[in-house]
Formats: sequence, structure tokens, C-alpha cells
Amino acid sequence: AGDNFVRIVEVSARDGLQNLKPPAVPTAVKKELVERLLDTGLKVIEVGSFVRPDRVPQMADTTTLLPGLPPLRSEGPDVHYPVLVPNMRGLQSLLELEDSYKASNANGGPLTNEIAVFVSATEPFSKANNNASVDKVLSGLPGVIDKALERGYRVRGYVSCVMTDPYAGPTAPEDVVKVTRRLLDMGCYEVSLGDTTGEGNPEAWKTLWEALLKENIPTSRLAAHCHDTFSMALPSILALLPLGLRIVDSSLAGLGGCPYSPGATGNVATEDVVYALHKLGYDTGVDLEKLVKSGNWLTKTIGISNESKVGRAIGAR
Ligand code: HMG
Ligand code: MG
Repeated sequence: AGDNFVRIVEVSARDGLQNLKPPAVPTAVKKELVERLLDTGLKVIEVGSFVRPDRVPQMADTTTLLPGLPPLRSEGPDVHYPVLVPNMRGLQSLLELEDSYKASNANGGPLTNEIAVFVSATEPFSKANNNASVDKVLSGLPGVIDKALERGYRVRGYVSCVMTDPYAGPTAPEDVVKVTRRLLDMGCYEVSLGDTTGEGNPEAWKTLWEALLKENIPTSRLAAHCHDTFSMALPSILALLPLGLRIVDSSLAGLGGCPYSPGATGNVATEDVVYALHKLGYDTGVDLEKLVKSGNWLTKTIGISNESKVGRAIGAR
């Protein structure tokens, strides 16, 4: 990929759906969603979570969804289905699922090739989301990451609350740098910087980005994960492109939100990101028309509004 290629990490099937009120989105709808996303050209599609089902009920069917997805074997080496894994208990569930699938299917598996671990840069959100302090979460991760790497998964790291914490206010960039460094040192191939609350803006993002670069963390290992609560996500992403950002997390139809970040709304819409990047001369490998169709299909199917301006505009033509 050239210097004008931006890799999109599509999070609608996980971040997008995890915060929806009941009823649970049917597994068959999730499966069709992933198939449609693959058909747009997206390669990295986050598909679920191995977390407590009582905490995040919308992700409780991840073990049923994975075996129903288009097999990774036939999708080519650049296709990835990351799943969130918070701890060893989550990894054990994934490995058991892989083992039982393999045992009952000739040439079966792997069901996925990537896990994502997550930790907050801030204490109150860490307690709410992970039920543990930042240090406690970090100290549990090397075992999980080592075992995942040993089993052939690549491991992505998330840092949450890189701009503000919903319970504590502004986050110090040094705290984000510290946690990012730890995740990279533990073996994460890249770290996604989560503006969980959507309270970032282009200037604050540039300040954070420069703090990371100053610590010799290469831009090639950093993604921006912006929630769009205050409509600052896309301006922030565009402001980081000249500083080297080339990996962007986004969600079809602007779906998304974290149950432990009250009031925060969806991720930046993939349709809006792809539209803007293409206009500005960047390449994403994603078919915008198909993306728009899929966003309107998904929101209609589950009966929610499409938060992508581009999706609404092109969809209405
Ligand atoms: P815990 O409650 O601290 O776990 O969970 P525990 O070790 O105290 O165990 C208590 C019970 O939970 C036990 O069951 C465990 O087996 C079970 P019991 O023996 O009492 O029957 N348990 C589990 N069950 C299933 N899967 C597991 C698991 N672990 C323990 N992995 C944990 C800690 C983190 C798992 C829990 O607090 C949890 O599930 N939290 C929800 C986290 C979550 O999914 N948040 C949303 C995703 S993160 C996000 O959205 C942010 C992001 O988008 C970036 C951004 O925007 O910033 C990524
Ligand atoms: Mg998120």
C-alpha cells in the first residue's frame, strides 16, 4: 500500500452493536453484515467480544457467530476478524471454541486470527469497564497476549479515554503515552487510541499525537478510534493525516458506543470517513456505494436511524 492508503478497521459489528438496547440483534443479521462489509472491500472487521454476557448482552452470541462467518481460509491473508478479549477467561473461551470447531470440521478453522485487548488510560473508566485498576488490567495482559501470539493470533491493543474520562474529565497525554508504550512492548502489533467520550478535537489530537511521536512510537502502529459525540471525529481524523495517521477505526452508519461511557454516541461513520478520504485523494480500497447500501440495509433491518450524513445523502438518490 502506498503512502496515500488509509486502512479502515470496521467496528460496527462490535462497537456498533454492543450498546444497543434489547432485543439482541439476531446472529443472522450480524453474519449478513460481515458478509456485506467484506464485499465492500473492508479487510479488518471486528466481529464480537469474549466478555461477560451479563455486562454486554449484545455480544453474547460471538461464539455462535464466528463459525458462521465466511471462512478466513478462503478470504486471503489480509482479512482479519478481531474479537475483544479482556482477560485469560475470555481467551480460554475463544481457544475452546477453536478446538471444538477444529475437532468436528475437517480443515476447520481458524475461526479468527486476531484478538484485541483493551485498557483505559484513566482510573474511573477502567473500574467501570474492566472492573479493575489500570495497573491490574495491564498486569494481566502479558499472559493473555503471549498465549494468543503462541496460538498464531495477532494482537491489537486499545487505549480508552485518550481525550477525556466520562467520570474524571481531561486525560493527560503522558498517561496515554505510558499505556500505549506498555501495550506495544507486550507484543501488540498496533494500538488504537480510543476517544471513548468523543470529547477530542483536532488541536487536542495533534497534541497527543506529537507526545506519542516524541516517545518514538511510530505512526504506522497507531490508529485513531473516534466516537463522534460532538461531531469532532472527522475533523480530528483529517487533521492527523498530515502527521502520518493511516489507520482509522470507524463504524457503518455511525453506530457505536460503550455501555460504560454514559451519553457517548456512535463511532465516526465509515461512509463519512471513506467519502472524505476519497475526496482528499486517499485510497481505502472500499466501495462507497456498497457501503452506503449496507448502512441503509442495516439501520432499516434493526430499526435505528442512520447516523452517516453520506449514507443518508447518497442513499436518498
Ligand atoms: P470481572 O467481573 O472482573 O471478572 O470481569 P471476575 O474475574 O471477577 O469474574 C466474575 C465472573 O465473571 C466469573 O463468573 C467469571 O468466570 C466471569 P462466575 O464464576 O461468577 O460465574 N468472567 C467472564 N465471563 C465471560 N467472559 C469473560 C469473563 N471474565 C470473567 N471474559 C471483565 C472483567 C472485563 C470481563 C468484565 O468487567 C466485562 O465483561 N466488562 C465489559 C467490558 C466490555 O466489553 N466493554 C465494552 C467494550 S470496550 C469499548 O467499547 C471501548 C473501545 O471501543 C475503545 C474506546 O472506544 O475507547 C474498545
Ligand atoms: Mg469504542
